[in-house]
Amino acid sequence: TSAQAQAVSRFPFTPIDAQTDMTVHVPEGWNWKPMVSWGDALFEDVRGFEATTGVSLADSDKVFGENTDGMETFQIGGHEILAVNNEYVNPETNLPHTKDGVPQSAEDVRMLQNFQGVTVMEIAEGQGGFAPVKGSRFNRRLHHNAPMTMSGPAAGHALLQTAADAEGRNVLGTMGNCGAGKTPWGTYLTCEENFNGYFGGKAEGLSDLVQAGYERYGLADESQYGYEKFDARFDLSHNPNEPHRFGWVVEIDPTNPDSTPVKRTALGRFKHENAEVTLAPDGRVVVYLGDDERGEFLYRYVSTNPYVAGQPTDGLLDDGTLYVAKFNDDQTGEWMALTPESTGMDKAEMLIFARQAASKLGATTMDRPEWIAVNPYAVEAYCCLTNNKNRGVKPNAGGDETPVGGPNPRQANHYGQIVRWYPDEDDHAKDTFRWDLFVMAGNPTVHGDAYAGSKNVTQGNMFNSPDGMTFDSAGLLWIQTDGEDSNEGDFAGMGNNQQLAGDPVTGEIARFLTGPTGCEITGLCWSADRRTMFVGIQHPGGSWPSDSGLPRSTVIAVKRDDAALVG
Ligand code: FEO
Ligand code: CA
Ligand code: CA
Ligand code: CA
Repeated sequence: TSAQAQAVSRFPFTPIDAQTDMTVHVPEGWNWKPMVSWGDALFEDVRGFEATTGVSLADSDKVFGENTDGMETFQIGGHEILAVNNEYVNPETNLPHTKDGVPQSAEDVRMLQNFQGVTVMEIAEGQGGFAPVKGSRFNRRLHHNAPMTMSGPAAGHALLQTAADAEGRNVLGTMGNCGAGKTPWGTYLTCEENFNGYFGGKAEGLSDLVQAGYERYGLADESQYGYEKFDARFDLSHNPNEPHRFGWVVEIDPTNPDSTPVKRTALGRFKHENAEVTLAPDGRVVVYLGDDERGEFLYRYVSTNPYVAGQPTDGLLDDGTLYVAKFNDDQTGEWMALTPESTGMDKAEMLIFARQAASKLGATTMDRPEWIAVNPYAVEAYCCLTNNKNRGVKPNAGGDETPVGGPNPRQANHYGQIVRWYPDEDDHAKDTFRWDLFVMAGNPTVHGDAYAGSKNVTQGNMFNSPDGMTFDSAGLLWIQTDGEDSNEGDFAGMGNNQQLAGDPVTGEIARFLTGPTGCEITGLCWSADRRTMFVGIQHPGGSWPSDSGLPRSTVIAVKRDDAALVG
């Protein structure tokens, strides 16, 4: 047991039990505090959220956005800046004056648009802990109407042109901002995931390729948020190309409040989860990318030129090659390049319809790729395959068959797994790799078969639907869940969504934090002094974190009582 004791001692905390209540739990000797919630004012003279009225239209683009997700910290000139994704909205909470949160006016739609996108804000630690610095010149909201530009091979293509932007290079807004990434040159990457839900209306006269794209990316006649009824930009019958301008990775310089975000088309268009950036031994930039939909793919981008510290970085995310993964049953795999030759597609169309292009290469359909994390101490990468109720049953609309096998070994997979790959020759730019499963989530108290999970899943650390994931500077793998929190049946004993730590060497996993009922845990980064861990609590239930009557997505600050390092 000395090996086990050693492994356990790698976790700097005592694991906690599953919980089913309406608050956050952390281990003994640790504490947590809300740092910023949806609707908190970012500027002076802004009232922000009030319990009875919510947030006013006038304030809606001057407050912390909704549904906190991926985030990263940045430092410049003694200032600490947090960039945070605001993925989507909870209209019943955000539009308290409406029935069921259905927008009744252009003003309602504008409010929803303002609550989403990205929040960039300065934060500072005072007597009461970390808080936003109100009125800091770094504070900005990049919402659904914020000006952005497009770059890379697809920028300016006819399929990106609209009546309002004849050049196809100037877009308003970023949406579905899910996971995040950070470049070695200090910029923030925000990843556009479920953009399709914002568009509605019937587009006529589409080409076969575009029609197939509509189906494959899930564009429907009716939107999820009702934008198209009050904002013609989101009406597909008027603007059939507008949805082609979303589904990209967007680069933001959070240290320059005057900078314009850039959509990097070389990284492909799909439902991006996060963008995990690392460097090959020769300095080329490697970005791992997941497409979170049942039966979609894992991608990798490799830049043509190397990153050289201190040299200009122009082109590093514009000039390169996009690859898609094929996993073989013998635990080998390869990255297959998307090129005009391999796909038979025009280069811009191949990036705009990356899903269709990747299908032509016979890529492996995955169980919903969510966050990818690269180990800073070993040449290996991990991807959460969150779950797939349709595995082996039916493909995504217009997508490929989803046979059981390889890193997706279970039919009707409600628990999820984490796949790990080891690039050949210890080089993330090499086109071949070996793979294994770091963990198969499951429930050993309910099942005795493959649904019990892998050996490192026990009664004491059960979880389902791994989603957020990142390494800390000490080499621990942090895993956040977005799953079923009924605590019943197949999920009995798992409790609320949670954050766990994994040891990449031993495979051991321990529960660190649990969230309030109804939430998912998503987004994790650290303060510059690494004595505070910021954790995102998205769409909590009840009226957490206060008694305002409305639940508010919140970033919490987690510390040790002795203020020691926390990762
Ligand atoms: Fe926004 Fe796939 O999570
Ligand atoms: Ca996610
Ligand atoms: Ca998820
Ligand atoms: Ca989410």
